[in-house]
Amino acid sequence: MKLPNYEDERKRTNEEVKFIYLDDEFNNDALKNKKYFLKTYGCQMNVHDSEELRAHLENLGAVETDDLDESDIVILNTCAIRENAHDKVFGYLGRCKHIKEQRDLIICLCGCMAQEESVTTEIREKYPYVDIVFGTHNIHELPKLILNHQKKQDIEVYSIEGNVYENIPYKRDSKISAWVNIMYGCDKFCTYCIVPYTRGKQRSRKSIDIIDEVNDLVKCGYQEITLLGQNVNAYGKDLDNEVSFAKLLELVAKTGIKRLRFVTSHPWDFTDEMIDVISKYDNIMPYIHLPLQSGSSKILKLMGRRYTKEEYLDLYKKMKEKISDVAITTDIIVGFPNESDEDFSETLDVVKKCEFDSAYTFIYSPRIGTPAAKMKDSVSLETKEKRLQELNKLINHYSNIKNKEYLNKTVKVLITGISDKDNNKVCGYTETMKLVNVDAPKDTIGKIIDVKITDTKSFSMDGEIV
Ligand code: SAH
Ligand code: SF4
Ligand code: F3S
Repeated sequence: MKLPNYEDERKRTNEEVKFIYLDDEFNNDALKNKKYFLKTYGCQMNVHDSEELRAHLENLGAVETDDLDESDIVILNTCAIRENAHDKVFGYLGRCKHIKEQRDLIICLCGCMAQEESVTTEIREKYPYVDIVFGTHNIHELPKLILNHQKKQDIEVYSIEGNVYENIPYKRDSKISAWVNIMYGCDKFCTYCIVPYTRGKQRSRKSIDIIDEVNDLVKCGYQEITLLGQNVNAYGKDLDNEVSFAKLLELVAKTGIKRLRFVTSHPWDFTDEMIDVISKYDNIMPYIHLPLQSGSSKILKLMGRRYTKEEYLDLYKKMKEKISDVAITTDIIVGFPNESDEDFSETLDVVKKCEFDSAYTFIYSPRIGTPAAKMKDSVSLETKEKRLQELNKLINHYSNIKNKEYLNKTVKVLITGISDKDNNKVCGYTETMKLVNVDAPKDTIGKIIDVKITDTKSFSMDGEIV
């Protein structure tokens, strides 16, 4: 048994990162005829990790089911970013327990929640029916953990700074658009955030390994690649013969992939060189997710974000000037400890100045172990909820305006599948990452087509093929 330890997770030694090239030792039929049910919470990182979990299980012959009731193995790939994620997962475990009372079922919990001390303690004490718990550093051990599992609960969570694993198998959700990790972990330690504790220190992959993966994906016919990292702009800073993010973008753009995207950008590490590269290459999409978190320099300082309101606005302006027709989206937290009315109105002020294409907005959620969780807070939940509502209204107002600008225009859309809204239509994304439901034949799926926008709403648009 190995339990997570916050003390260890907080540490950042200068120990060298190991690059470990996995070989496929588990490729047999040990789980033949077994069905697995996988539920993924949280960010793109977890979505992509789930693609790895699928590959490990299917290499052992298991098949996926979307029906919990017929599954032999359940895996909950969890997120720890806010408290509500915790409640959802424990609620779900209750359902699994009910099934397990009637028949055999292996219940696994992994992801960021597994890296939380309080969660593993809770599971050990109150949830003996959870069979296997593993963390974000040992996803590749899933085959071993399942095959060696006896009746006893196994908790194998490492609180280490982390290695970089290569040759990871993935069973990708899409044959059109692929995620590619360029780095793991985070060293920013924003005071509210749990990620540096759950994902370890920043470790960049070697550019040569990234390019190899991208070249393979291009060969397989992928149209779009999204480079993944908690702050992609800091890519390479931890490597000796440094390839900067700007340089990496250029290298990936030159592979000939039709569309190149990246998330998430941290304003602090965003250089002019990156902006130049984005504007230079037509296959780098004019879309940037640039989390603001707060518009108040005072709160930003308390958050440990290392930029001021003015610096954010300057960067924003530069992007808008240099990258033609760029769409910019953001993340905002309201109700950070002691956020005053003035602080909040600074946030509204930035939203008004930036007119974001859209935004994810959250009420601050204290995470045990982070510095902000120790700050005394005098603001009531009611006030926080009111602020969130007011902010969302403003965000939607601008989303609507931004989308309306597309009306009657013809734009390029990468068609990714059948529309959820209407089975007779297909859907896809513009270069600026706007969802469009398109009146077009199904054989356009996987292609980039010209679409005339016929109607717009806050969160999507309608169009027809031209
Ligand atoms: N690495 C990204 C963010 C990843 S987490 C970045 O630095 O921008 C995604 C979003 O969740 C964050 O941008 C933030 O807005 C929100 N978030 C993180 N911790 C939170 C907390 N404790 N309470 C509320 N929202 C939080
Ligand atoms: Fe969290 Fe900050 Fe790292 Fe983003 S940059 S993952 S918000 S600590
Ligand atoms: Fe959640 Fe972990 Fe992502 S905490 S947001 S799944 S990095």
